[in-house]
Amino acid sequence: MPSYVETAAGIAAAAGSLLRYFFERRVRFELKGDHDLVTEADRASEKLVVEQLREHFPTHAIVAEEGGGVDTGSEYRWYVDPLDGTTNFAHGYPSWNVTMALEKSGELIAGVVLDPFRGELFAAERGAGAFLNGRRMKVSAAQRVSDSLLCTGFPNHNRKTNANIHYFHELAMTAHGVRRAGSAGIDLAYVAAGRLDGFWEFGLSPWDMAAGILLIEEAGGVCTDMAGRPYHLKSPHLLVDNGLIHDELLSVFGQISRGEVIHPMPAPAAL
Ligand code: IPD
Ligand code: CA
Ligand code: CA
Repeated sequence: MPSYVETAAGIAAAAGSLLRYFFERRVRFELKGDHDLVTEADRASEKLVVEQLREHFPTHAIVAEEGGGVDTGSEYRWYVDPLDGTTNFAHGYPSWNVTMALEKSGELIAGVVLDPFRGELFAAERGAGAFLNGRRMKVSAAQRVSDSLLCTGFPNHNRKTNANIHYFHELAMTAHGVRRAGSAGIDLAYVAAGRLDGFWEFGLSPWDMAAGILLIEEAGGVCTDMAGRPYHLKSPHLLVDNGLIHDELLSVFGQISRGEVIHPMPAPAAL
């Protein structure tokens, strides 16, 4: 019998082909909220993923972003983001993925992030390691924030009340760079693969982060909230990294959250 991760990878591959079909033709978007886009590709991918999960695991519960899930009351629960990075997708920007993860009695046990555009499958099973296209992944070895490449994201909801620009500013002054690639699943997978040293974001949903968290833990990294508390899938913020820069990031985040200005923002220049 195939493992959970093998089955999830097969389903992700089918959804990935469907998404590529839509991506090559370009799709119109609708707005779910101020900055929150949805397309027919999100809905078609979710339908495919949920139908296939139901076929393989009829008793399992499914939480899916576009509302197509089912609550069976099972201790097994899948989290599905049928298209993560919809804004990129709708603009033809090639950074998006399909991701799903399985939780058993509150513990993440299997997860995949598939980037169909680059043909990269990031997969992990609890206790068995994390793999990129079958090769074992390991988090980076960066020892200091000043030697690191970081990444963050800005929420689709309530963006105007979100404080992340302060965190972005401070880390951009210290690290080699801070990316904002627009696809949390890929951002997290890249931390697991050692392509990024750390990532943080406010207001992610369980389907954005479930697979990525397992990838990072299995690749030797650390996941907490931005105050260093143990994460859970409803945490209001998430901080993940290679473990070596965690304490330093927590200390910087603590300073920022207390309103301490480390690098004052320059006044806007006249043009
Ligand atoms: C979004 C992306 C983005 C992140 C947002 C997410 P969606 O997911 O992962 O990178 O910054 O917070 O909502 O809406 O494209 O599935
Ligand atoms: Ca998402
Ligand atoms: Ca999505």
